[in-house]
Amino acid sequence: MLKLFYNLSQIVTCNSNGIGYKRGKDLSDIGLIENHSVVVENGLIKDIIPNYTSNKFTADEKIDLSGKTILPGLIDCHTHTAFAGSRANEFKEKIAGVHYEEIAKRGGGILTTVNAVRNTSLTDLVEIIKPRVQEFIAQGVTTLEIKSGYGLDFENEIKLLHAIKILNEIFPIDIVSTFLGAHTFPPEFKDNHSGYVDLIIHKMIPHIAKNNLAEFCDGFCESTAFTSQEIDKIFSAAAKTGLKLKLHTEQFNNVGGLDIALKHNAKSVDHLEVLREEDYTKFKNSETVAVLLPGVSLFLDYQFAPARKLIENNAIIAIATDYNPGSSHILNLQLIMSLASIKMKMKIEEVINAVTINAAKALNRENIAGSIEIGKQADFAVFDVSDYSEIIYNVGRNLLSHTIKDGEIIFQN
Ligand code: NIG
Ligand code: FE
Repeated sequence: MLKLFYNLSQIVTCNSNGIGYKRGKDLSDIGLIENHSVVVENGLIKDIIPNYTSNKFTADEKIDLSGKTILPGLIDCHTHTAFAGSRANEFKEKIAGVHYEEIAKRGGGILTTVNAVRNTSLTDLVEIIKPRVQEFIAQGVTTLEIKSGYGLDFENEIKLLHAIKILNEIFPIDIVSTFLGAHTFPPEFKDNHSGYVDLIIHKMIPHIAKNNLAEFCDGFCESTAFTSQEIDKIFSAAAKTGLKLKLHTEQFNNVGGLDIALKHNAKSVDHLEVLREEDYTKFKNSETVAVLLPGVSLFLDYQFAPARKLIENNAIIAIATDYNPGSSHILNLQLIMSLASIKMKMKIEEVINAVTINAAKALNRENIAGSIEIGKQADFAVFDVSDYSEIIYNVGRNLLSHTIKDGEIIFQN
C-alpha cells in the first residue's frame, strides 16, 4: 500500500542523522523541509519528494494536505494517565496555601488516588482512562507512556499494568508501560519500608518481567518517598530482568537520586526542578535523557527546571506533561510545549525536538519513532498552520488537523 501525503507547506523532520537524539546546539535544528510531500509504504516512511512532482506520482491513495505543516507524531514520555478518582478537594487546599508534600505527609496526595484505584475494577479503570487517551490522540500524540504507581500492592499494581496493556490493544497508538511500584509507601508498609522494597523486588518485578507487563521500571526518590539506597536495590533487581530504568528525582529535595540513576544508566531522569548547579555537568557525556515537566511547576506554583543551563551543558532534553491527578492535572501536551518556551526560555525548535526525537530516546524508541526519516514509522501530527511556530505561539489552542499512525489517519479535526 503506497500513500502520498502531498502539498505540505512545511515538513519538520527532527532528523538526527542516525544519532537518535539532539543536544547542545543541535537541539535548535528541526530539519525543516518546505514545499514537499511524504511517501509512505506499508506504514513506513519511504521518501520525501518535492510538491511539484506530486501530480505525476502514482499511489494507491493521495491525501491532500495543502498549506499544512507536518511534524513527527508527538511523544508524551511521562504520564500517570492510569488513575481513578479526583483530588479536586486537595487542589482547593493547595490554592489556599497547603504544600503538596504536606498533603502527602498526612496520608493524602498519591495515597488518595491509591484508595480510589484499589476500589475500581479493571474494566471500570479501562473505561475511565479511554477518553484521556483519545484526548492525547486529538492533540497529535502517537506514542504515550503510562505509569502504574497508584496500586502499591501486588494485586493493584498488576491491575493497573493490565489496564495499560488493554489500552495499548484498543488504541492504534503506541502505549508504553512503566512499572512505578516505588511511587510511595502504601499504608500497610508505613512502618516497614524494607518489607515493601522486598515485595517490589521479590514479587512484583519478577512477575511483571515474566509476563511482559512493563518495559520500564520507575521510582520516586525523595525525602517523602524512597531513599537512594532503596532505589539502588530496586534498580539492580529490575535491570537484571531486562526492565529499563527511569527515575523521578530532584523534584523537591536532593537525596542522591540523580547519581543512582546515572550509575544505572537510566534511560531518563525526570523532574529536576531543584537540580543543583554542581550537578549540571553530569549530563555532558551522558545518554540519560533529562525529562522536564513544566506543568508541575505551573500546577504547584514553584520553580521551573533549569532548562537553559542543561542545554548549555549538553544535556539531552525531553519535555512531557506528567499528566496526573495531584501535581500536574494538565492533559495537554501542546500547552506544556508553550509553557516550556515561555517559562523555561526554550526556543520553539528546542521544544519541538524535546517532544519528538528526544522523547523517543527517553522511551528507547529513537530507532523507530520521533522523526520523519526514511524507514521510520509513518507517525505524524499534521497542523493547520503554514509555519511550525504557530503551534507553540497559539497557547492552549489545538490547531491539529490530522493524527496519523503507521500511515493511517486515526484522527481528523
Ligand atoms: O510526577 N512525583 C511523584 N509523582 C507524580 C505525582 C503523583 C501524584 O501526585 O499523584 C509526579 O509529580
Ligand atoms: Fe511523574
